[in-house]
Amino acid sequence: YRDLRVALLGCGSVGAQVARLIIEHGDELAARIGARLTLSGIAVRDTTAKRDVDLPQELFTSDAERLVQGSDIVIELMGGIEPAKTLILQALQGGADVVTANKALIAAHGPELAEAAEQVGAQLSYEASVAAAIPILRPLRESLAGDHITRVMGIVNGSTNYILDRMDRFGDSSEDAMRVASELGYLEADPTLDVEGYDAAQKATILASIAFHTEVPVDAVYREGIANITLEQIETAKQAGYVIKLLAIAERITSADGEHGVSARVYPALIRRDHPLAAVYGGKNAVFVEAEAAGELMFYGAGAGGAETASAVLGDVVSAARRHVVGGPGIAGSLHAGLTILPVGEVNTSY
Ligand code: HSE
Repeated sequence: YRDLRVALLGCGSVGAQVARLIIEHGDELAARIGARLTLSGIAVRDTTAKRDVDLPQELFTSDAERLVQGSDIVIELMGGIEPAKTLILQALQGGADVVTANKALIAAHGPELAEAAEQVGAQLSYEASVAAAIPILRPLRESLAGDHITRVMGIVNGSTNYILDRMDRFGDSSEDAMRVASELGYLEADPTLDVEGYDAAQKATILASIAFHTEVPVDAVYREGIANITLEQIETAKQAGYVIKLLAIAERITSADGEHGVSARVYPALIRRDHPLAAVYGGKNAVFVEAEAAGELMFYGAGAGGAETASAVLGDVVSAARRHVVGGPGIAGSLHAGLTILPVGEVNTSY
């Protein structure tokens, strides 16, 4: 097999698992791809820090810019906007395909990065940025490419789902549920990202853009978090046959004056207890898709976790690697449908 040079940027819980899988599954992946993934280095801030997985010390470097040069595939798992964005642009300009799990970056600069990839015929993929292990972006972009998606409705933030679920099923107060979620390490370093719905809004942007082939800026997503949801509200909903879930919804709507467009929003909504999304317990994620011909589909699984997220990252890496073997243009994702993003007007609050 020929070698493909893979650079890894970042080695947190996801990065360490990605490195482990590339090393441990090397032979199997090589047979599947027709080329061998060779980890050329792992860029980190502190090369001596302790990692989740034992990895060869010689792989670590603090010079990310240098590592990116000459790579065939760059995996960005540093998070945050900079230096991730600059490194991704450098990687694309150098001819590498890029795989990232960086939801904040894709939500804020996805179209610009996709265009940079398109210009050089490279592949930019980010399956792990939404609902981690769940294959959802590729199905929306590829498997459903011939259909007409009308609505995507997801539980895409595991920590708030865990909190609401504890309140609903165990009668925890919101403070108690939050404390347990925090102790289990489910919340982002800044918990307001989860609790106020920012994290879900980033994912709504990404889902909406792909489902409707239209640029949906993150600040066009209506956002309401779960901070004000009380145990009493949850009990009242339960008595009426509903469960409260934080939903990210992207759908085609028609405005009062007849204009067709797209709406994207995040808020705690009432879900009938016999709806499939009502049975998404604990910290799990699920995305419910409605399409004209396919009807209703649901994608369910782990929305966080080192190995779980690494699974989605590796899927993108294998796809990019195969392209190096067989050729062909990269998938950057076209956003050329140009639908209007309509403000949230009268919309359902229950499903
Ligand atoms: N804070 C996120 C969540 C992590 O709770 O789902 C995964 O993106």
